[in-house]
Amino acid sequence: MAQESQTYHFPHRHLLGLTDYSTEDIHYVLEEAKGFREVLERPVPKVPTLRDKTIVNLFYENSTRTRVSFELAQRRMGADVVNFSASASSVKKGESLKDTIQNIESMKIDMVVVRHESPGVPHFLTRVVDAAIINAGDGAHEHPTQALLDMFTMLQHYPSLKGKKVAIIGDISHSRVVRSNIIGLTRLGAEVTICGPKSLMPLFAEALGAHVSYNLEETLAWCDVAMALRIQLERQGGQTALFPSLREYHEQFGIKMAHLEKYPDFLIMHPGPINRGVELESAVADCDRAIILDQVTNGLAVRMAVLYLLSGRMNER
Ligand code: NCD
Repeated sequence: MAQESQTYHFPHRHLLGLTDYSTEDIHYVLEEAKGFREVLERPVPKVPTLRDKTIVNLFYENSTRTRVSFELAQRRMGADVVNFSASASSVKKGESLKDTIQNIESMKIDMVVVRHESPGVPHFLTRVVDAAIINAGDGAHEHPTQALLDMFTMLQHYPSLKGKKVAIIGDISHSRVVRSNIIGLTRLGAEVTICGPKSLMPLFAEALGAHVSYNLEETLAWCDVAMALRIQLERQGGQTALFPSLREYHEQFGIKMAHLEKYPDFLIMHPGPINRGVELESAVADCDRAIILDQVTNGLAVRMAVLYLLSGRMNER
């Protein structure tokens, strides 16, 4: 695990978003994650760190990677895990979020991992329960563990992110991944360009702290890393009215093998789930320069680090 610094104490009880995390905090989490990445390489990839902790995964929105990754991270650290999925719960019988969480907490819960379609739900939970809260995605607001694992994965390729050029391409206005990544990447000294159709660009895009481009070709010529994002149809009321068609989107903003041949250096990332043939040509997702599955593996280590740091265990060392 990371070296304990004489002067630095991890100051957080929750991970609601990277907005609250300083450059030093982010470096500290990523350093801690390196230790857990090594644990994952062992024949028995487990540590007993959270043996006496009970954690609830409260998922009000669909999820594959993030939910499985959090659950595996918790189990690999020996925690008791309860999975709550809104579609199979009393939420369907009209129970409020506050009642649901207070009832769950009465069962002596230490930490809650929450994903919800409404921005601000993780913040709200900190006011109604005592458990440590981890945001696993709140609407189009933040997805901090995704950005942490993305930065961790980039740092496996570069000694530092200072001056690195990261392009985030796709549905910018509906993405929580982009917001957390811009905050984290710029704190670590990277330059970020967001690229996509005008209709999928937020009104105050520059205020996010990134360059804005509507030209894929120029963006790919510029970047060291190209992170493609899914078109979030479910957050657009299920319609494609914001652009002519998925085929046309792919024509203009999909990353294709031809781009890889033309620009031989940039790495390809994607938070998943990928819509093959839309944001990435299928062969691009499977090529050597795509580090998408490394992102998934690293997600486990980063989430183990976050769980450990927020469990209060550190203070007992
Ligand atoms: C992202 C999410 O849920 O925000 N996925 C993820 O967590 N791996 C991106 C997406 O849904 O497209």
